Amino acid sequence: MKVIAHRGYSGRYPENTMLAFQKAVEAGADGIEMDVQMTKDGHVVIIHDEAVDRTTDGVGFVADYTLEELRKLNAAKLFPDVVDFAPIPTFEEFCVWAKEQDIFTNIELKTSVHYYVGIEEKTIELMKKHDVMDKMYFSSFNHMSLVKTMEISPEVPVGALVVSLENAGQYCKQYGFANYHPDYNGLTQKEVEQCKENGIAINVWTVNDMGGLEQLHKWGCDGIITNYPGVCKEWLKNPHTYE
Ligand code: G3P
Ligand code: MG
Repeated sequence: MKVIAHRGYSGRYPENTMLAFQKAVEAGADGIEMDVQMTKDGHVVIIHDEAVDRTTDGVGFVADYTLEELRKLNAAKLFPDVVDFAPIPTFEEFCVWAKEQDIFTNIELKTSVHYYVGIEEKTIELMKKHDVMDKMYFSSFNHMSLVKTMEISPEVPVGALVVSLENAGQYCKQYGFANYHPDYNGLTQKEVEQCKENGIAINVWTVNDMGGLEQLHKWGCDGIITNYPGVCKEWLKNPHTYE
């Protein structure tokens, strides 16, 4: 079972920063999950929310900032004792770094709340430019965004993000989504089995408790997306039940 670091090693470091990504690699994560949005002047940047308020010292929407303005913000707001300053990374900066790492990347296209016209094309263009097409795949709650990436670059797999879905395996197979990415809360063994029957890989989010890790491992899930990749990797070396 693969361990995918949710927004990097976000349980211990400021989410979606290069520091959190580097720490995920050092903890032995198999992959990194991160979220992309787009600035006013069309740059793809890595941040979870549509607004900068929760994770940085700024206010307002990403879409209202130019890249130059956005880069001045401090994305280390939630971990002031860990690091003084960490900028919001650009996706291009991430690609340059990821090319040299022995990990894969799950790019989550954040196109459900604010639809950033052209974000799929721009993201793929950067992946091609930096030769990382074979190390990355897409996921999104907006399944139209996934269809779009598949039209542009059918060789890059995609994962359907959902809270929960009936007939998940058939759904993914029908639309050509190679992976299913459900919320851990409410996930049933039946859903997992349905995916397996249809040849769909299943990566579950966000798994931050040991009971969940154990259960998903028993059910044979392909990957878990967690804020604590180091802890999960340690457990997987010697899977056991906590009393
Ligand atoms: O990709 C899994 C997970 O990140 C989806 O939810 O809100 O954390 O991006 P969210
Ligand atoms: Mg995400």
